[in-house]
Amino acid sequence: MAVLIEAEKLKARGIDVVDFGPGEPDFPTPEHIKRAAIRALEENRTKYTPTGGIMALREAVCEWHAKNLGSSYQPKECIVTSGGKLAIFNAISSLINPGDEVLIPAPYWVSYPDIVKLPGGTPKFVATLAIDKFCLRATDVEKAITPKTRLLIVNSPNNPTGAVIPRDEFARILEVCQRRGIWLLADECYSHFVYGSAKPFSIASLPGAKECVIIAGSLSKTFAMTGWRMGYALAPEPLVSAMIKLQSQTVSNVTSITQYAGLEALRGPMDSVGVMLTEYERRRARIVAGLRAIPGVDCTEPQGAFYVFPKVPGRGANGAGDSVQVTRELLEREHVAVVPGDAFGAPGHLRISYATSLERIEEGLRRLTRFFTASAA
Ligand SMILES: Cc1ncc(COP(=O)(O)O)c(C=O)c1O
Repeated sequence: MAVLIEAEKLKARGIDVVDFGPGEPDFPTPEHIKRAAIRALEENRTKYTPTGGIMALREAVCEWHAKNLGSSYQPKECIVTSGGKLAIFNAISSLINPGDEVLIPAPYWVSYPDIVKLPGGTPKFVATLAIDKFCLRATDVEKAITPKTRLLIVNSPNNPTGAVIPRDEFARILEVCQRRGIWLLADECYSHFVYGSAKPFSIASLPGAKECVIIAGSLSKTFAMTGWRMGYALAPEPLVSAMIKLQSQTVSNVTSITQYAGLEALRGPMDSVGVMLTEYERRRARIVAGLRAIPGVDCTEPQGAFYVFPKVPGRGANGAGDSVQVTRELLEREHVAVVPGDAFGAPGHLRISYATSLERIEEGLRRLTRFFTASAA
């Protein structure tokens, strides 16, 4: 957010900033979804709804998840939330007591540690490595478990690394959670952005998984609906009931109009997802090649989501990393906005979003090349 504010200030002064910051699709919300929202307004669907979401929507979430990701949930095992973020927040606030430990693979999405700390939980980080394509390993999860561990958060495809956990490894991670009696919260925010021959996958599709799995889903990225605020959780009924209780004393319900738009998103055509994916795949190829061509920059090819997470030469002695300083200098000198890896628990890296046009990517690469070549000289 701090980077965004600085970038906005520069833009307001008329400066041409290449903005690699955004964590959201640069595509508009599909027309048929917008129309459904307008219809909801015209039909005066503007009143309170049930806390967990209108029943048709809870049904639609379960049907959509079953069809696209192979699960088998009932509406009573579903809560509609204000974005995937509130699904994660509600689940963690409902489950975690002071002193409980929550395993968070690093690099991680910035919000997890704070969401864990709010109910008194302790984040414990499990490292994933660039040489391993940042893939989480079941053996590392097992080593990190203590008697206080209550939950593991898995985000695949991952923000910021783009890592996608292979199905077999994910099954092994599930097996560890089942055997050691801990919950597995699967954040599926980027489920539909996977490249090559990979298909969207949910751990909830594996037999017997449901008892210890919590799915946090989001319409934000899949349907280019970040501002609408719609997500959901799928989990065992007692946990969903607790989450509904919590939600009834916070947001009450997701905006009624958003719920009708969400219903259309889930029941309507999904062509827009394929269009976005094809475009992201082209951009991914270009940005990875461009970054790899810069001396000193080390770039793992992301398997999903729309971010690259290169390791870059730092500003300290012998190039040691302070990516906050690199980020600051990049913005000041080249007017390129990125997010420092420190925010994700990975100093020395930058998160570069390719949810921006190929032309901007080309311009950004020119500036990044100039920046790192000049720094190396
Ligand atoms: C990994 C991850 N999970 C969850 C979210 C939450 O998204 P939303 O609350 O918009 O559904 C985001 C948003 O950037 C994310 O990157």
